[in-house]
Amino acid sequence: MADYDVIVIGGGPGGYVCAIRCAQLGLKTACVEGRETLGGTCLNVGCIPSKALLHASHSLHEAEHNFAAMGLKGKSPSVDWKQMLAYKDDVIGQNTKGIEFLFKKNKVDWLKGWGSIPAAGQVKVGDEVHNAKHIVIASGSEPSSLPGAEVDEKIVVTSTGALALPKVPKKMVVIGAGVIGLEMGSVYKRLGAEVTVIEFLDEITPGMDKDIQKTFQRTLKKQGMEFIMGAAVQKVDKTKTKAKVHYKLRKDDSEAMIDADVVLVATGRRPFVDGLGLEGAGVKMTERGQIATDHWQTSVPGIWAIGDVTEGPMLAHKAEDEGMAVAESIAGQAGHVNYDVIPGVIYTSPEVASVGKTEQELKEAGVDYKVGKFSFMGNGRAKAVFMGDGFVKILADRATDRVLGVHIMGPAAGELIHEACVLMEYGGSAEDLARTCHAHPTFSEAVREAALACGDGAIHA
Ligand code: NAI
Repeated sequence: MADYDVIVIGGGPGGYVCAIRCAQLGLKTACVEGRETLGGTCLNVGCIPSKALLHASHSLHEAEHNFAAMGLKGKSPSVDWKQMLAYKDDVIGQNTKGIEFLFKKNKVDWLKGWGSIPAAGQVKVGDEVHNAKHIVIASGSEPSSLPGAEVDEKIVVTSTGALALPKVPKKMVVIGAGVIGLEMGSVYKRLGAEVTVIEFLDEITPGMDKDIQKTFQRTLKKQGMEFIMGAAVQKVDKTKTKAKVHYKLRKDDSEAMIDADVVLVATGRRPFVDGLGLEGAGVKMTERGQIATDHWQTSVPGIWAIGDVTEGPMLAHKAEDEGMAVAESIAGQAGHVNYDVIPGVIYTSPEVASVGKTEQELKEAGVDYKVGKFSFMGNGRAKAVFMGDGFVKILADRATDRVLGVHIMGPAAGELIHEACVLMEYGGSAEDLARTCHAHPTFSEAVREAALACGDGAIHA
């Protein structure tokens, strides 16, 4: 048993960042994590491993489709799946050990085990009960289940199983055209699987700007991904080695079935609060099963909550920002998160990135806006690397020119978006961006051109 200023429950991006910041601000801090390694879903079975597989499969795509055009002749590489998984596991190991190192460096104690809260001010890990002036719940989320689809992580898998399949399937059916479905679907498509995505809605990537949704889906179709839209999956029947996915089309209620070797269920995630003892501790929940918070404080004084267990987008960087803000609030500083400027990125190829309002949101809110759009076809660097597909779209207030939203599909979109984030954080205008010198030849010139298109016009359009 030990006494702490802060005990953080959960060692994912929200929790470990919060713990490190607390320690940096002079608070005696521990972090409870039950997995063998730190880093939570993101580092172990989410963002980081999927990026390793996206990189590997994109490299294969380059070799198969673009090398010859550049005069790089020879046989395309074949896939050694075991080695690709070993590379992915090595990337995970490097990152999770990195967090362990940072804990030691910052003197954060790792309490190994699953934590619960027997009472405010107390955290139980295994048989030990520790005292804490502040408890931060950062226990993350888990894949939500789909009625009628029993996950075995072999034939019917979540993102976790999809990152460790024994072999590349011949036919994969992905349920849900959200971020996970499209990222993992892209990986297996590029590795040679036939991939069909079944989506309940009529558009992919719910919540994204409509222009992006349309162009992105067209591009994925061109890459060979198939889509069954407006279809609700009813159930998944399994044999020993295969599955049959039954779905109903919304437009006419007709029913159909599709075969698969592997079915990826990617229909969202839900807060993970099992075993925390929240009810006993008196922590109130929202109707949607999230921990109710006000500036990250729960209904019980001294208990805070951040990241996927709370409201808002389930994004690692949103959780990290909240983690830092809570640490600062506990230390008596002014913790702050600007929820209007949280970027979202889909790491397919091309990447998709977005920040701020979509065009449809501005329309619904009755905002008078203007649009500056620029295609990557007009960007010399993008054309040089076969990445002319896609565009940058900037939405700015018509009267003040203030940038309200930026949506990008194209090369390095996940990096480019941050120039928009900084601009928006400072309340900048499209003209501010347009008057900022951008190095040539870079992809980011396309962002500037879209800003110019909000004014007197882009040069290369
Ligand atoms: P999602 O919420 O992004 O998409 C789920 C999709 O499944 C929706 O389009 C929904 O309409 C569809 N759906 C639901 N039930 C269905 C049914 N019965 N039949 C057909 N379609 C159905 O969820 P996803 O992709 O599982 O991701 C979960 C969370 O993880 C998200 O909040 C996402 O932001 C986060 N994430 C973020 C990543 C990133 O930032 N790059 C990467 C991976 C996950």
